[in-house]
Amino acid sequence: MTKCVIVTGGAGYIGSHACKALRAAGYEPVTFDNLSTGWEDAVKFGPFEKGDLLDRARLDEVFAKYNPVAVMHFAAFSQVGESMKDPAKYWRNNVIGSLTLIEAAVAAGCMNFVFSSTCATYGDQDNVVLDEESVQLPINSYGASKRAIEDILENFEQAFGLNSVIFRYFNVAGGDPEAEVGEFHQPETHLIPLMLDAIAGKRDALTIFGTDYVTPDGTCIRDYVHVCDLVDAHVLGLKWLEDGKGSRVFNLGTGKGFSVREVIDHSRAVTNMEVPYVEGDRRPGDCTKLVSGSERAIKELGWSPDRSNLTEMIGDAWKWHQTGHYEK
Ligand code: UFG
Repeated sequence: MTKCVIVTGGAGYIGSHACKALRAAGYEPVTFDNLSTGWEDAVKFGPFEKGDLLDRARLDEVFAKYNPVAVMHFAAFSQVGESMKDPAKYWRNNVIGSLTLIEAAVAAGCMNFVFSSTCATYGDQDNVVLDEESVQLPINSYGASKRAIEDILENFEQAFGLNSVIFRYFNVAGGDPEAEVGEFHQPETHLIPLMLDAIAGKRDALTIFGTDYVTPDGTCIRDYVHVCDLVDAHVLGLKWLEDGKGSRVFNLGTGKGFSVREVIDHSRAVTNMEVPYVEGDRRPGDCTKLVSGSERAIKELGWSPDRSNLTEMIGDAWKWHQTGHYEK
């Protein structure tokens, strides 16, 4: 019988790619999503169960219906700026919602949990390569909410034996090379989709947020990871748990950083079109440089982030952009 995995946020950007990878690996991905930021037409690889993480009865129903071997938990609000203006939204949905989900999983005897965390839990440690042992000092409510969920998972392991793999993402980019699913946020805040919109004339020029950082070209440096590599790591994490290897935290990045100007240069080369941009002020909350110490996932999980180069990430995002899904 096909093994089911509950995928919260399966109608969103990363969750929909995870469903495709799970399906390819022989699992049945069951999307649990309230469609607050996701899209029903992104649920293509398994059943859809509409529901809210705060609704324990609905969660219990879905666990009973599918008897899943694991949960992959992507559903969350994830905008740093918004989290500073409306912390309750982040604590209620991200933390209380996750707590409700974790309790429901344990009550149903589903003891394998894969959690989508973030490099934002490390906070502002500029110019340091961040590995899994780095201190976690989040500077925004989003990062704090994700760190709190990490703590809950640890406590539930101590109390009930819940096994978790926690992935701390760096900058996720790109899309399905077959363009069946892709990145689509409303509002969009991420660099690459905004840049492609500017290239295609769908938005005004891209604004570079700050050109006076202490980096070689004055713009911020980030570690970009291809969404397909990222979700492959999740499938490896699921197998790790099914093999009984126990709880573990992994960073997901490549260890290589690129500046905003370097991303612009690559976009010009990939699309063969000009990138209209203007230079603006710094965006509050942005760190100078966020680069992952990424060896653990490569060594222990056998992860190979082969597609995480800017040419492929921008190329695949551009392919999706040209399908017109952005016109929705
Ligand atoms: N940037 C611009 N102009 C834009 C948008 C972004 O110059 O219009 C710059 C940002 O200043 C940053 C880089 O492009 O230097 C990447 O910005 P994104 O908004 O694409 O991504 P962030 O690094 O801000 O965010 C990511 C994740 C968050 C996570 C955060 C941790 O998307 O979920 O890293 O800092 F919380």
